[in-house]
Amino acid sequence: MLKIVVGSPRLRSFAVVSEPPCCTGGDAWRVVEDRDGVEVYWSGRKLFSMRIATWERGVEITHTLERDEHVYGLGEKYAHQDRRFKRFHFWNVDQTVHLPSGDPMYKSIPFYIVAKPGKVYGVFVDYPGYLYIDTGVEHLDRIVIRVGAGYAVLYVFSGENLYEILDAYTRLTGRPFMPPKWAVGYHQSRYSYASQDEVLRVAEEFRRRRIPCDAIWLDIDYMDGYRLFTWSRDRFPDPRGMIEKLHSMNMRVVTIVDVGIKEEKGYHAYDRGVELNAFLRTPDGELFRGGVWPGLCVFPDFLRSSGRRYWAQRLAEFMGVGVDGIWLDMNEPAIFYMEKPFRSMVAEVSKRLIENDVEGAGNHYFWRARHLIGTTSVGKGIGMVDIPAVHLDDDGGEVRHSEIHNAYPLLENEATKMGFEIARPGRRWFILTRSAYAGIQRLAAVWTGDNQSDWGHMAISIPMLLNLGLSGVPFAGADVGGFGDDVDPEMLVRWTQLGAFYPFFRNHSSKGTRRQEPWVFGEPWSSYVAEAIRLRYRLLPYIYSMFIEAHRSGKPVIRPLFAEFPQDEQSYVVEDEFLVGPSLLVAPVLTPGARARAVYLPQVRWLDLWSGEVLEPGWRLVEAPIDRVPLFLREDGAVVTTEPRSSATEPWGTVTIDVFVGRKACAVLYDDDGETADFEKGRFFEAKVCIERRGGDAVIRVEELHMGYEPGFSKVRIRLLGSPWVERVLLEGEELRVYRSGKAVVAELGIGRLTASQQG
Ligand code: GLC
Repeated sequence: MLKIVVGSPRLRSFAVVSEPPCCTGGDAWRVVEDRDGVEVYWSGRKLFSMRIATWERGVEITHTLERDEHVYGLGEKYAHQDRRFKRFHFWNVDQTVHLPSGDPMYKSIPFYIVAKPGKVYGVFVDYPGYLYIDTGVEHLDRIVIRVGAGYAVLYVFSGENLYEILDAYTRLTGRPFMPPKWAVGYHQSRYSYASQDEVLRVAEEFRRRRIPCDAIWLDIDYMDGYRLFTWSRDRFPDPRGMIEKLHSMNMRVVTIVDVGIKEEKGYHAYDRGVELNAFLRTPDGELFRGGVWPGLCVFPDFLRSSGRRYWAQRLAEFMGVGVDGIWLDMNEPAIFYMEKPFRSMVAEVSKRLIENDVEGAGNHYFWRARHLIGTTSVGKGIGMVDIPAVHLDDDGGEVRHSEIHNAYPLLENEATKMGFEIARPGRRWFILTRSAYAGIQRLAAVWTGDNQSDWGHMAISIPMLLNLGLSGVPFAGADVGGFGDDVDPEMLVRWTQLGAFYPFFRNHSSKGTRRQEPWVFGEPWSSYVAEAIRLRYRLLPYIYSMFIEAHRSGKPVIRPLFAEFPQDEQSYVVEDEFLVGPSLLVAPVLTPGARARAVYLPQVRWLDLWSGEVLEPGWRLVEAPIDRVPLFLREDGAVVTTEPRSSATEPWGTVTIDVFVGRKACAVLYDDDGETADFEKGRFFEAKVCIERRGGDAVIRVEELHMGYEPGFSKVRIRLLGSPWVERVLLEGEELRVYRSGKAVVAELGIGRLTASQQG
C-alpha cells in the first residue's frame, strides 16, 4: 500500500483502523517524479501518472486511465457495473430519486478499483466532507478527484488479483463484522406493522405456512409519536411480551432507530442529552434543530465520546426488552426542513405537508419541495443540503459539520455498537444502516434505501450490490419486492428469487403500497415465493461460510464474474448475473414474461443445476420457467447445502456437498454457535473437503481441519454431479458404498468418519 498525503490533514481519519508500517511504501512501490507530477509503479509496472492542482474549494488530483481499464467500487451508486465515464458526488443524502440523475445517494465510499486482464489496483480517497470523482467525463483517459478541502489523503493498493486489493483495503479500514446466524436468513419488514397483534399474526403466518423467516422488522410506527427509544402504549402495550412470544417461535425482532431526537422538555432522551451537552449546535451556540418525522429534532454529536456514550446508554436501555437488532435510518442525517437558514416558502409548504398529510397526495409535493430546497448548496447533486451545525471534539475544539458530514453515520454506528456491548456483552451485534462512510463494513450491514417496485430497480440492484462488495461492504441488500409503488405477483416471485442470493435478504415496502408478504397473491405465486426463500435456507451452509471468509479477508459474498475470471474480457462487463462465493453462478430473470434468458458462462465448463447438463463456456439461451432461477456450478467448484428449516439458527443435521469434479474440487464446511464472539477464540468447526479425480476413482480427502466446536450437522452427503466417469468413491483407500440419484453419484458418511480420516 502506498500513502499519498497532500497538504496537512486537519482531522484524524474515521475510516482507518490500523495503518500498517508498510504505508509509506514498501519494496514493490516506486514513485518517480516527472515534470508536473509523479508516476506510480508497483512491482515494476506503471499504474498511472498523477498530477496535483487546486480547484475553487481545495485540492484536485488527476491520474491517467488506460483505454481498456474498467472502474469499479465507489460504494452505493445508481450506476452500472463498470463505473467508468461517469461523475459522482460524495455527500450523504436521503435520496428519493433512484435514477442516474439522483446522485449522490445515502452512502459515501470513495474507494475505487481499476481493473483489466493482468492489471488491478485500488485507490481510497479518505475525506469525509464533500468530494467529487469523475471517471472519464471531463477527460476520457483520466480520473479527476476534487476534494472540498485544502488537503487530501490517498491510499493506493495493488496486488496479484482483486482479492489482494480488498484484503489490503479491509485491513486498513476494518474487516467486515461477522453477523449472527439469524441475520443471514430471510427478514420480513413493512412500513409499518401497526400493532403488536399484527406483528404476531405475520410471524405466525410464516410458521403456519412453513416459510422460513428469521426476523420481523418494526418501522417507525412502533414508537410513541416517533420519539426514539419509546413504544406506543396503544399499539405496542407489551413489547417485552411480544418479543418473548416471537423468540419462542425462533424469530428475532429488529427495530428502526432514526437519528433525530424530538425537541421536547420532559422527554427523557431529550432531557438527558441536554443535561450532558450531547447535541449538535449552530455556530451561534444554540441547539441545532431540523425537522424529521416527529417534528423539530436535535441531533447527537457522535464526534465526541460523551455524545457516543449518551447514545449507547439510551440504546442499551431501550434494547433491555429483548430487541435483537437495530436498524439505523435517516442518518445522513436526513432533515426535511430547517428553521434556519431555509425559512423559505418552500420549507414552510413542505413542513405543512408532512405534518398534515404524510401519506396522501401531498406527499408527492412534499418530495418535490424537498428537492427544490436541496438544490441550494454544496454541489450540483439533488438534495445536497449543507447542515449548518458544529461538532465538538474531545478536546473542546470545534469542527464544522460539513467537514465530517459523510462520517456522521459511521460514528453513529460506532456508538450503536457500543450500545450492544453494554446490553449484551460477548454476543454478536446486528445493525443495518442506510447511510455510511468507508469502513462501515466493520460495524453494519447496509441496504440501498427507497427503491421502487420496478423491474429496472430490480436489475440495477445487482451492480449496486456487487460494487458495494468491491467497496469492502459484503453484507448488503436491496428491498426485495421494492419499497415504493405496488408490486405485482410475477415481480415478487422474480425479486425473491434474486433476493435469495443478496447477502442481506429483506422484503420491505412503504406505507400506502400494496402489501408484499410472500402469501399476498395466493397460489400459485405464494408457493413460488416460498420456494425461493427455501432455496436461500438450502444454501445457508455455503453462504454462511462466505460470511466468515468475508470477515477474515474482505472477500465479497457475491462477486462479479471478473473477480474469479480476470482473464475473461467479457466478465468485466456482464452485470445481470453474478457469482455467490467462487463456485455458484446465478442468472436471475429480470424482465416480466421471460421464460428463458441469455447467460454468459465464463472460461470453464459449468453444470446446469436444474437439468444436470454440462455446458461449455460462452453465451447461451437457458430455460427459466417462473418457478426457477437459473443456477450453474463451476467445474472444480462445490456448494454446501442443507434441508431448509424455519430459521437459520436450527441445526443443519445433514449437509450435502454438491461437486462438479473435472480434476479436483474442494468445499469448506464451516460452523460455529452463530451467536457469540467465541469463534474469534477458536470455537468453530472448519473442514476443507476435497474430491479428486484419479481415473475412474473419486478420492475424498479432508485437507484442513479445525475442531473447536461441535458442528450442527452429523452427516455429510457428497453428491458428484456431471461426472459419468465415476466408478468408485474412495476415502482413505477404502471404497465407500454409493447410490445413484438421477445423474448423480452419492456417498454418505458420518462427520466423525470424515474428520477421523484427516486426524489419522
Ligand atoms: C425511510 C427508509 C424506509 C422506511 C421509512 C420510514 O424512507 O428508507 O426504509 O421504511 O423511512 O421509516
